[in-house]
Amino acid sequence: MMRHAKAIGSRLERIHAEKPYEAAGLRLRLDGGVGPGPNLALATDLGFSYDGHHWLFRKAGFFLRREDRLAVIGPNGCGKTTLLRLILGQLQPTEGSLYVAPAQVAYLAQELETLDPRHTVLQEAAGSDAPDQPQVRSLLGCLLFSGEAVAKPVSVLSRGEKIRLALAKTLLSSPDLLVLDEPTNGLDLPSREAVEEALEGFPGTIVLVSHDRYLLRRLATRVMNLEGGTLTVFPGSYVEYLDSRRRAAPPGRPGRGGPADADRRLLLETRLAQLSAALDAPPEGQAERLQQEFLAVSRELRSIREASQA
Ligand SMILES: Nc1ncnc2c1ncn2[C@@H]1O[C@H](COP(=O)(O)OP(=O)(O)OP(=O)(O)O)[C@@H](O)[C@H]1O
Ligand SMILES: [Mg+2]
Repeated sequence: MMRHAKAIGSRLERIHAEKPYEAAGLRLRLDGGVGPGPNLALATDLGFSYDGHHWLFRKAGFFLRREDRLAVIGPNGCGKTTLLRLILGQLQPTEGSLYVAPAQVAYLAQELETLDPRHTVLQEAAGSDAPDQPQVRSLLGCLLFSGEAVAKPVSVLSRGEKIRLALAKTLLSSPDLLVLDEPTNGLDLPSREAVEEALEGFPGTIVLVSHDRYLLRRLATRVMNLEGGTLTVFPGSYVEYLDSRRRAAPPGRPGRGGPADADRRLLLETRLAQLSAALDAPPEGQAERLQQEFLAVSRELRSIREASQA
């Protein structure tokens, strides 16, 4: 098992080292301080309540791997921002545990971080470290600040421009983990596309809260749904997530052996393969849950196969 864990660790390290930031011809090396190991975060039986009576969620279990772009979705007020703040260590779990590996983390909050109104766009993006000007300008260009726009003072920027600048600043800090809360909220189409483009080129791990279906489609590799106090993680893209929801409750679902079963079977087979790979080297504390899911999926798959042969 140690051998497996080591192999996965070094494979991820390689991926981590080889994938430079690429957006609109821009390359930015990742140089965060994370050691090897597949998991960035692991939650078991996690529960949170602000007042000790009303629980936003309980018994939540999830893990975050380095290659993940995890989308957190759910209705207003269900606790998405709260969950991000738990991951960031700004809040402590009320019950259960949440481990987050030491990593360089950047947070783009729902309420915009304070940008210094006395700075120009370029000064604010470059920061005191003043990284390569061409690199900064290139990212700013990707985020629609071209030519003289970089000389504008922050104080005159529109909200959309401030969001794009805050994102540039965040990306230029080369984090390992990027935590974003509704980054495209209130942006017009060109700005949204620019933000999508910049995020797509980011090589690190992303945890993203969003209602923006385009962004979710383009970015998410896993989907976490927080609803009615329960947190569930779907191990696939947003499109696959929507498909699986549709299949779970289709109107006038065809009988056993119909096309819906064929799709369901494919999904289950895929999940079974993922689970058996995960069980090779299960994240700490996850083995039992994975085994249980493995059994449940095998059982459902067997019943579908039997029905189709009947
Ligand atoms: N500091 C706080 N103290 C007490 N209650 C809080 C605090 N922060 C948030 N809440 C409450 O907790 C609940 C979840 O808030 P949170 O901001 O996490 O939801 P959200 O899913 O991000 O919502 P939205 O989609 O509107 O951004 C809400 O009912 C909110 O009023
Ligand atoms: Mg929120």
